[in-house]
Amino acid sequence: MTSKGLFISFEGIDGSGKSTQARRLADHLTANGREVVLTREPGGSPGAEEIRALVLQGEPDRWSAETELLLFTAARRDHLERTIRPALTEGKVVICDRFADSSRMYQGLRGEMRERVDALHDLMIGVEPDLTVLIDMDPSAGLSRAKARATVEERFEDFGISLQEQMREGFLALSREYADRFTVIDGNRDMDAVALDIQAQVEAALA
Ligand code: ADP
Ligand code: TYD
Repeated sequence: MTSKGLFISFEGIDGSGKSTQARRLADHLTANGREVVLTREPGGSPGAEEIRALVLQGEPDRWSAETELLLFTAARRDHLERTIRPALTEGKVVICDRFADSSRMYQGLRGEMRERVDALHDLMIGVEPDLTVLIDMDPSAGLSRAKARATVEERFEDFGISLQEQMREGFLALSREYADRFTVIDGNRDMDAVALDIQAQVEAALA
């Protein structure tokens, strides 16, 4: 999608190390003289951060599957308009902790709505990352890492281990569906090993 910048997303199940690795990649690229915008979904712009609180807090059944999809898409549209597109136009590297593939998985699986997720994406978002880093890992280890954080943003973590198992398989299937932009990284290793692997993939994409 970009004429100048590079749009990188991180995907994977809760607790797989996306936020940790996105930050490390941002630090690495900044140290090498790149202009980087580190951002996340849901959120990444003031309006989208307000929607984030609506979708991530409260009871798991707070929203119907359809309403939830609309909220995530509204947040993404605002994030795209106000944060992602302007940064890419200025030639920056945008590193985004989750993007539309998370909707394909979480909202897609929740109400068997993958077709509607894709239709709404095409209608209202219409862009994919240049590179998607999928951190693949054992769901039970991921869930215990995520639970150890103990925040109020637990709506999705409350869905439990069987959903995490489905998510892992679903993300791997997505990586085959969009093989041109996905790179799959083994997240069951120490942080430094994972970070080095990701740096190598990103440097190849930037070259
Ligand atoms: P995510 O953004 O995918 O949910 P985080 O980056 O927030 O994951 O990591 C979840 C927790 O696991 C954090 O407490 C983090 O410090 C820890 N963590 C991240 N990567 C690793 C790793 N490779 N080994 C052990 N712990 C890790
Ligand atoms: P995040 O803060 O990245 O959680 P974690 O660090 O635990 O991975 O995302 C919060 C939750 O939002 C996560 O459980 C996945 C969910 N989510 C969706 O359901 N759809 C989406 O489109 C996005 C971006 C996130």
